[in-house]
Amino acid sequence: GTVPEHTPKEEFGDLVAALPRRQQSILELRLYQGFWLPEHWVPGTVVFQRRFAPRPDDVVLASYPKCGTTWLKALAFAAAARAAHPPAAPGHPLRRLNPHDCVPFIDEIFAAGEEAKLDALPSPRLMNTHLPCTLLPTPVTAGGCRVVYVCRDPKDMVVSLWHFLRRTKPDLSFDETFESVCDGTVAAGPVWDHVLSYWRASVARPDRVLFLKYEDLLRDTGANVRRLAEFMGRPFTAAEEAAGDVAAVVELCSFDEMKGLEVNKAGSGTAGRYRAMPRDAFFRKGVAGDWANHMTPEMAARLDRIVREKLQGTGLAF
Ligand code: A3P
Repeated sequence: GTVPEHTPKEEFGDLVAALPRRQQSILELRLYQGFWLPEHWVPGTVVFQRRFAPRPDDVVLASYPKCGTTWLKALAFAAAARAAHPPAAPGHPLRRLNPHDCVPFIDEIFAAGEEAKLDALPSPRLMNTHLPCTLLPTPVTAGGCRVVYVCRDPKDMVVSLWHFLRRTKPDLSFDETFESVCDGTVAAGPVWDHVLSYWRASVARPDRVLFLKYEDLLRDTGANVRRLAEFMGRPFTAAEEAAGDVAAVVELCSFDEMKGLEVNKAGSGTAGRYRAMPRDAFFRKGVAGDWANHMTPEMAARLDRIVREKLQGTGLAF
């Protein structure tokens, strides 16, 4: 292939500079096609939109940040790769690699000008993104590949986000994070528009877009691992069920198991977009309802009300 003359950042510098701009804690945000993206996501997003060549058996894992990305990446990888890597095997890749190093961020690869890496992935490819559905390349939204989305109670997302951002900005106030979520000027926000973009796609094309909730994953992980495998075209066989393979995937990807791994302890940095983040930042508490320990009942009611109004009449609720 030809070597591009400019990096995406250089190539789309003017495009980025012309977009509305806001600051949110440590992030410079730019309003791109209706969503506040961290500025450094935009060039990779543009290239992704223009140059992504989907394969029919691709699986794109999508999520709003802090809603279960890491867990979904682990579960999907473990389920998809189970022939080559039996989930109970002591040498399983997820026991020595952080899930973010097993499933690549698509727009990050494009941002780095490294699309050859995507081309080199064996089929079926497993990739992920934090972009809303409406910003994905048209061939993807037109059903050109499979998409799995995970969402989460926005109140717990705020709490998780605050703890995450505090790893690089210790004095960040909870109130500031909460307010930015409420008015939508937060990375990949507004969160309700993000969730709705995938909800609508899943209603229109349930065979192509699987819509999951973090809370459902917690309640019955096994049932969702089965759904995930079936959706990816690789349902668990009777023999695999009898051998306990579903339970082995659940165990391999469980919060305690992953948090306890040497590779996911503090001090070891991830590759790519989160290289500044210690890996243990992705494994904090892993429960539903922690919002009650961080916000007043009034704050909870306010965010609930905003989200309820935005989702009204869509058939989706938290
Ligand atoms: P908390 O901060 O509430 O604990 P993301 O992966 O999208 O960044 O989301 C991070 C959230 O998912 C964190 O939530 C993290 O603890 C939780 N998480 C990470 N791995 C998990 C796992 N294996 N099981 C359950 N939750 C997990």
